[in-house]
Amino acid sequence: MIDLRSDTLTRPTDEMRAAMARAEVGDDVYGEDPTVAALEERVAGMFGHEAALFTPTGSMANVLAVRSVVNAGQEVLCEASAHIARAELGAHGAYTGLTMRTWIHPRGQVDLPTIQTIFAPDMGPFFVPTAAISVENTHNFAGGAVLPLADLRDLREYATGVGVRVHMDGARIWNAHVATGTPFEEYGAVADVMSVCLSKGLGAPVGSLMIGSRDAIAEARVWRKRMGGGMRQVGILAAAGLHALDHHVARLADDHAHAKLLAEACGVDPATVDTNIVVVHRSDAADFVARARDEGVVISTVGPTAVRLVTHLDVTREDAEKAAAVLGAL
Ligand SMILES: Cc1ncc(COP(=O)(O)O)c(C=O)c1O
Repeated sequence: MIDLRSDTLTRPTDEMRAAMARAEVGDDVYGEDPTVAALEERVAGMFGHEAALFTPTGSMANVLAVRSVVNAGQEVLCEASAHIARAELGAHGAYTGLTMRTWIHPRGQVDLPTIQTIFAPDMGPFFVPTAAISVENTHNFAGGAVLPLADLRDLREYATGVGVRVHMDGARIWNAHVATGTPFEEYGAVADVMSVCLSKGLGAPVGSLMIGSRDAIAEARVWRKRMGGGMRQVGILAAAGLHALDHHVARLADDHAHAKLLAEACGVDPATVDTNIVVVHRSDAADFVARARDEGVVISTVGPTAVRLVTHLDVTREDAEKAAAVLGAL
């Protein structure tokens, strides 16, 4: 079986497992795990921020990050198919008590004119005020689309002007960096607060980080514990993340090339595939997925007429070519 459902399906490599086995650990709830501390410091520095916090999941990193800039009774604006709106099961409403309003863009992009029309200033006790604008880079359900730096800079300038904060869901920011060559610091500079995932394209088994100011991270550390996310000798997982940062970033270019191959086979213009995700629109989506599985290629639907293919560390060039042949024939 060639499994293209998600880049979260990867299994740790032997080298990653060896790095995990060697990790120096301590109780991270006591702040005594040196490997976690090293990972947090490294990732914060990469993005030019003061601090970072290791979390078990990207969803928790997003909930902590968004709640650091949006209070209960306030709203965050985001694109309609953003992971925070569509796939975190209402966590931001359930835990933080915020509401969301959305703009729609088929490629998940920043649509500044629309954002400007839906932005709500604080008008006193009459309307929900906008506290933050959230963007997702790359955008998962928009097919791994990259958000251009120029658009992010314009958004940041607008947000600063109207006094709201910017959150970036950077679960796959590594892919955006490899696809465009944009330095991580440039992405960090357009957001007040971010999340990044080690457990997607980078191939770590577990782990994400929230990134932000020292104060925001100190507060998030309390909320992480409150939510049951205080972890003990978790350096064993942070070591996998450090190994992934050392060895699995540049290779994402292979995943991107494999995705273009699959796109071409499925009749999707490869020029529209920025990174490692291909979304194919078909009226027979569920049937297509079932027939692909019969031929040994596992893919999934992400909507009634949308099929998603994701390339990753465990998909070789040979696998990609085989899958392209099967899907092309179907
Ligand atoms: C863009 C994006 N953000 C956040 C997440 C959440 O990550 P997790 O599954 O670790 O909660 C995902 C998961 O696929 C994602 O695609």
